[in-house]
Amino acid sequence: MIRLLISFGSAVLTASLVLAEPAALYQTHCVECHGENRLGLIGPALLPETLGSLRGTALQDTIKNGREATEMPAFREVLSDQQIEGLSAFLKTPLAPAPHWGPEQISSSLLINEDYEPIDEPLWSADPMNLTLVVETTDHSVSVVDGDSFEVLTRFETPFGTRGQPKFSPDGRYVYIMSRDGWIQKYDLYSLQEVRRVRAGLNSRNIVLSHDGKWIAVANYLPNTFVILSADDLSPQKVEAVQGKDGLPSRVSAVYLAAKRKSFVLALKDAPSIWEVFYGPNPPHYGFAHDWRIEGPAPNKDPFPLRTITLKSLVEDFYLDPTDEYVMGASPSGTGGQVVDLVIGHTIANLDLAGMPHLGSGSTWQVGDRTVMATPHLREPLVSIVDMKTWETVKQIKMLGSGFFTRTHENSPYIWVDVFFGPDQDAIQVIDKQSLEIVKTLRPQKGSRAAHVEFTKDGTYAMVSVWEEDGAVVVYDAQTLEETHRLPMRKPQGKYNVGNRIMRVQSVGN
Ligand code: HEC
Repeated sequence: MIRLLISFGSAVLTASLVLAEPAALYQTHCVECHGENRLGLIGPALLPETLGSLRGTALQDTIKNGREATEMPAFREVLSDQQIEGLSAFLKTPLAPAPHWGPEQISSSLLINEDYEPIDEPLWSADPMNLTLVVETTDHSVSVVDGDSFEVLTRFETPFGTRGQPKFSPDGRYVYIMSRDGWIQKYDLYSLQEVRRVRAGLNSRNIVLSHDGKWIAVANYLPNTFVILSADDLSPQKVEAVQGKDGLPSRVSAVYLAAKRKSFVLALKDAPSIWEVFYGPNPPHYGFAHDWRIEGPAPNKDPFPLRTITLKSLVEDFYLDPTDEYVMGASPSGTGGQVVDLVIGHTIANLDLAGMPHLGSGSTWQVGDRTVMATPHLREPLVSIVDMKTWETVKQIKMLGSGFFTRTHENSPYIWVDVFFGPDQDAIQVIDKQSLEIVKTLRPQKGSRAAHVEFTKDGTYAMVSVWEEDGAVVVYDAQTLEETHRLPMRKPQGKYNVGNRIMRVQSVGN
């Protein structure tokens, strides 16, 4: 069982008089599960950063009716409609002052699974590099699927509300899963047991793992920090307050791995700036050869030196090119973007992409000797194909609706794109990588949203999510595009094949 060692920071909420009554109601009815300062306990954090996803009256309805099959009780007999209104407004008020969450708070949040026993060989006989993890959001679980037989090996619980992609250790043994409340769970795929978890932030965006599997980098919204944890024991190694050139704090919208540069690249949400944090030996800032991982940090040197690149305008939603030198960033206004060269630290090109390109979910491949990248657009029914040398848009493919994810595999002649929005959201469109034409439209389940594609290790099969409470992962033969398997799943948000996810990082070497 997990041992509870939670202790929260001492930040206090300065409730205004208007909030006095809801604040008191919160203390009486909610605090035991949702924690002091609404930071979460056995229930999730209740903060504007997360409650935004409960649209319309969903927040009030949740308080009124509770959540079936969970510990969230119904309050309709206990609280009046007016009190529930007041509570809802209170929960959507930002915490002021922003709570502190430093190394001490991170360390003391650590939960260790005392039943965990490391073993050297997997408990199962499947190909360890061909497991696929399916993140199911309805009941905060992950199914571990054998990518050859499509059998579910196990299903385990995650922290509430996973966000971003799970990250695998280079040997495929451990997976690290982050939740929106900043919990990082380390799970051993060999023994099928949780190892430990720690809370690295209060509201977090994503994590990446260094190419050597040693460090976990965490992008936080709340507080405005960037955190590095040891992947081994999840201890905090660096907690950095993030701010723009003007000294004003900034949220970190995402962190990316530039494996070839042995650095983490941070997208700042509130400042026109990119930060790069080096974790490898001989980072450029040292100016001399010194392997601190062997010899320890050089005197007075930070083992994770950082550099900031100031830009003319805000960027978000990055795509890092395969050389790890160029960052493509979209402008938050949705009108285009820019390409930043990490080596020289400057913007070198503008991207002619209107309609909010979703660069972060793009795919790259070769057409002849040209490297191209495909990106869907969140606000236009288009897929844009960008030349990764000239940065020009070489083609725009008209889709049935705007999409969210694209995916391909080196052994597949196709790129798969979902139609995430609009009346055709049950469709997945398959595009030929050479002719750049749509060759087939698949509808895994009529009327249900189909989204997010992942391949098995060798690219033989493509797996698509039917994104419903009682949904499924539908498996297609990636050449014939015929359905071969259908696995029932509870809102399968994303699928992550161990081999595919670590391949790019592995090709970098050590
Ligand atoms: C006995 C424990 C408990 C109490 C008391 C409790 N909650 Fe919860 N609450 C939970 C749990 C557990 C969840 C997560 C449910 C799930 O898995 O979807 C939750 C979920 C929620 C959510 C949904 C959050 C989200 O992001 O989806 C809201 C809103 C919420 N609670 C509000 C309240 C309010 C307001 C009160 C007091 C009036 C309260 N809760 C009292 C345990 C509790």
